[in-house]
Amino acid sequence: MRTSTSKNEILLNAYSADCFKKEAQKVIDIIANELENIQTNGLQNTIDRKLPEEQLAFWSEEFASTGSTSLSQLSEKIMEHSIHFHSKGYMGHQVAVTLPVTALTSALIGYMNNCTTVYELGMAGNAMEKVVISHMAEKYGYDKGATGFVASGGSMGNLTALVTARTSSGVEEKDYHRLAIMVSEEAHYSVERAAKIMGIASENIIKIPTDKSFAIRTDLLESYYEKAVADGKTVFCVIGCACTTSVGAHDNLEQIGTFAEKHNIGFHVDGAHGGAAIFSEKYKYLLKGIERSDSLIVDFHKMMMTPPLSTAVIYNAGHRKINEFSPKAAYLWQDQLSEEWWNSAKHTLECTKPLTIIHTYAIMRLYGDEIYRQNVDTLYDLGKEFAELIKEEPDMELAIDPCSNIVCFRYVPDHGNINETNKIIAEELLKDGTYYTTSTAIRGEFYLRVTLMNPLTDTEELTGLLQKIREAANKHNNPE
Ligand SMILES: Cc1ncc(COP(=O)(O)O)c(C=O)c1O
Repeated sequence: MRTSTSKNEILLNAYSADCFKKEAQKVIDIIANELENIQTNGLQNTIDRKLPEEQLAFWSEEFASTGSTSLSQLSEKIMEHSIHFHSKGYMGHQVAVTLPVTALTSALIGYMNNCTTVYELGMAGNAMEKVVISHMAEKYGYDKGATGFVASGGSMGNLTALVTARTSSGVEEKDYHRLAIMVSEEAHYSVERAAKIMGIASENIIKIPTDKSFAIRTDLLESYYEKAVADGKTVFCVIGCACTTSVGAHDNLEQIGTFAEKHNIGFHVDGAHGGAAIFSEKYKYLLKGIERSDSLIVDFHKMMMTPPLSTAVIYNAGHRKINEFSPKAAYLWQDQLSEEWWNSAKHTLECTKPLTIIHTYAIMRLYGDEIYRQNVDTLYDLGKEFAELIKEEPDMELAIDPCSNIVCFRYVPDHGNINETNKIIAEELLKDGTYYTTSTAIRGEFYLRVTLMNPLTDTEELTGLLQKIREAANKHNNPE
């Protein structure tokens, strides 16, 4: 016997197609209006930074209010209290300025709620992952038969690839305590964290120094390897950065490949950010040698314009021993040892994993690879243009010539402490909110850092930022 309608009124209304349709239209309008406003009304605030306590007070009050609300009303409040990535002044972290179409694919993902765990729960998604991964593997020059899947983020991707490299190394479990990896001192922290999660001792995470452009010193690989072996360590993987997070440096993948082949050890590339350069005729030279790696990751949610978390984990054919996890789960599959790409959870750390592949599949089908080429070329060119502008300014200094859209630089004051001045500038920029930039420490020195992620950002915003920096410095030097 079903319960009466009135008893479940809220629940039934929440599932009503009519209610959904009305609210959906309003939320879409809010998004479209912001996009239009950003593109037609010039640069406005990218961030209106409130103190965490103020933000908490606002939401606590909102949450406690007894009046009814709608999703569209909530959306307006949420957007008002959040950073605007689509603003031309957004030049902060490596978070994608999402393609508007992904707001719609997000809705589809949320509604369908398919997942890739086992075939039946995500039939289209599991196949779409395979198609997209094969397409990308070919781009990277991997051998026919390359495999892979989508993981929930670069950190998860690095961990998954390292676990696979360990399985593929053939080292027996009783010798796991000897295992070591070699990686640039500039690598993203997720690599070290992945190794620690795998139980690799800190002293077995061998950090290789970098050169003046912050790329791994490949001339040191041999001596560090010999020392590791002499110390009784078993190096099973070397990791190349494409590119590093802090300054955007690219390791020489060709030379790392030669080293890995010589010692018959795994070679993984962290291309979370810069892996997308493969789509650019102009910039793919930065990835030369990537075809020699055993595995790589690239984040769709960075340079490939999707919402997070969506990362391609790709294995070259031939070197990967499958069944990295060989999970026993009689309720999911009968044979834990076979590959069965369509049962994705056999190979991922996640059990339930959303179909984020729908974003990338749709982008590829709607716009083709050409959209990635345009995005990479535009943003990397913008990085170079910004670097040239900085070079022309006598009171500005570049950390290094950028090879991507990550640019680190600082203001050089006439007098006073350069680090302190730049810290104050960074704070002032945040308070002002027209631009959102970040900062980093480079060999102990404080630098301003931008990642040009918005393809709509133009010369006007670049010069505008330099102007703001100078204003902030003047305000600091000549307080009223
Ligand atoms: C080079 C690199 N690898 C890995 C990651 C981690 O990626 P995620 O944030 O998707 O976990 C990042 C994040 O910025 C990165 O820059």
